[in-house]
Amino acid sequence: MMIVNESEVLEFRTLIARRLGLWFDDHRREFLAGTLRERVSARRCGSAANYFQELGGGAWPEEWAMLAVALTVTETYFLRGAEHFRALIETALPECQRSGRGDRPLRLLSAGCASGEEPFSLAIALRERGAWIAHSVQIVGVDANREMLAKARLGRFSAWSLRETPPAIRDRYFRPTGADFLLDEEIRGMVSFLERNLAASNDDLWPPASLDVVFCRNMLMYFTPEAAEALIARIERALVPGGFLFLGHAETLRGLSTGFQLRRSHGAFFYQVGEPSRAGAGEPVSRAEPSALGWSAPELAPPGASWVDEIGRSAEKIEVLSAAARRRSEHETMVAGAAAGVSGFDRALDLHRQDRFAEALAHLQATSAEAARDADFQVLQAVLLVNCGRTDEAEARCRPLLSRLDAAAHYVVALCREHAGDLAAAFEHAETAAYLDPQFAMPRFLLGRLSKRQGRTRETLGYFEEALALLVKEDPTRLLLFGGGFTRETLVQACRAEIQRLGGGS
Ligand SMILES: C[S@@+](CC[C@H](N)C(=O)[O-])C[C@H]1O[C@@H](n2cnc3c(N)ncnc32)[C@H](O)[C@@H]1O
Repeated sequence: MMIVNESEVLEFRTLIARRLGLWFDDHRREFLAGTLRERVSARRCGSAANYFQELGGGAWPEEWAMLAVALTVTETYFLRGAEHFRALIETALPECQRSGRGDRPLRLLSAGCASGEEPFSLAIALRERGAWIAHSVQIVGVDANREMLAKARLGRFSAWSLRETPPAIRDRYFRPTGADFLLDEEIRGMVSFLERNLAASNDDLWPPASLDVVFCRNMLMYFTPEAAEALIARIERALVPGGFLFLGHAETLRGLSTGFQLRRSHGAFFYQVGEPSRAGAGEPVSRAEPSALGWSAPELAPPGASWVDEIGRSAEKIEVLSAAARRRSEHETMVAGAAAGVSGFDRALDLHRQDRFAEALAHLQATSAEAARDADFQVLQAVLLVNCGRTDEAEARCRPLLSRLDAAAHYVVALCREHAGDLAAAFEHAETAAYLDPQFAMPRFLLGRLSKRQGRTRETLGYFEEALALLVKEDPTRLLLFGGGFTRETLVQACRAEIQRLGGGS
């Protein structure tokens, strides 16, 4: 097998970030190395150096298209984030209608549309609203992954793609075909698809003031901050004054643009460019960042009590406290040693270890403003706030860190969303945390718990198996911070019990 060295992997990463805007952190180096080996041998280049020479030249569109297929995450499904579609139809579009478009059609763009479920959901939502709009609307789906676009154009989807689609909508717009579902031809005719790299300037895609609505969900989180900022600037220019931008649950414009107003309606948060419309029907924004996106699917009744259910119930204070008592004796020596001389952060961590959360918080508040800007510091503060039951504040503390691709911040936000009953967002943040840091055990554990609540047996088993494998080697400080007051042994036992219950791990 061909060998690629460390510096070649880093060069590959830089080329990808520059060209496709995608960022791969250090935990994903192995994946990048594998892709590099595969591409060098597929192209019979003989060495990574030869491959880079061609690739870096900029004129190898076929190879960049192959890389886009190999490197992108394409998870999507119909009516993902249903509240976004409700807010679009009932708040954003009526405002667009009132804003004097004249005769021109309403224009919507789905940036990073993957296999088409998002733009087709837009078409279905519009169709549901009434034929008055369907004949005068243009919807375009854009993606760099040509395999996904081919799938979109086929219009054939698995039951998994329709997992959040109400039966009435499924029956109205899909025809069963074997194990799959074929999308209604009229809906397919409402959407056109373009293969484009959205990290490039694509001037023809973004004429000034040409679009009414852009959905750009669950793509920015894979981008470098520079690529994300540049794309948002293009979207901002291309939207008509008062036009709307919808981002994914785990994404924010913070640090990327100040040109938008945050809007809220129907439990959804979204952005509006330029002057807020006086005719606005949405609620005024009461907070700086999204927080209350609702879970649209009916939640399944929780299965019978188990270790994992116990751990999921934050009110199980007795178990938490007894675990804390065990930990206290384990760490007595360290705690005793935590005296004057240790940093504010370490002292707060020790107080956290003793479940003295309020004191730890007060201790952090007294530390210097410079230290307080540190991401680890802010995450510790957020964890302490969660433990004090102040999840809104914890979430607010973490939100600015999300665009910096901070796995811990995404995990804490996932916990806060779970606490708020917003399981869809909890799931997305936990998935993002797991993606950003593949060695991080607790997001897998949370994904297992959330999947279990939804009755998704196969996924539940998979997540607990992954969590188990990671828990045994998880860093002790990270377990202390994010383990919810439970020891490694308790969490490992919980995973094993779930795996056994689901018939895995023979
Ligand atoms: C996770 S999917 C999101 C799909 C959909 N927006 C949703 O929220 O369900 C992300 C999509 O972004 C696309 N993508 C990533 N980088 C891109 C780039 N530089 N240009 C165009 N599309 C890109 C991927 O191919 C993938 O289909």
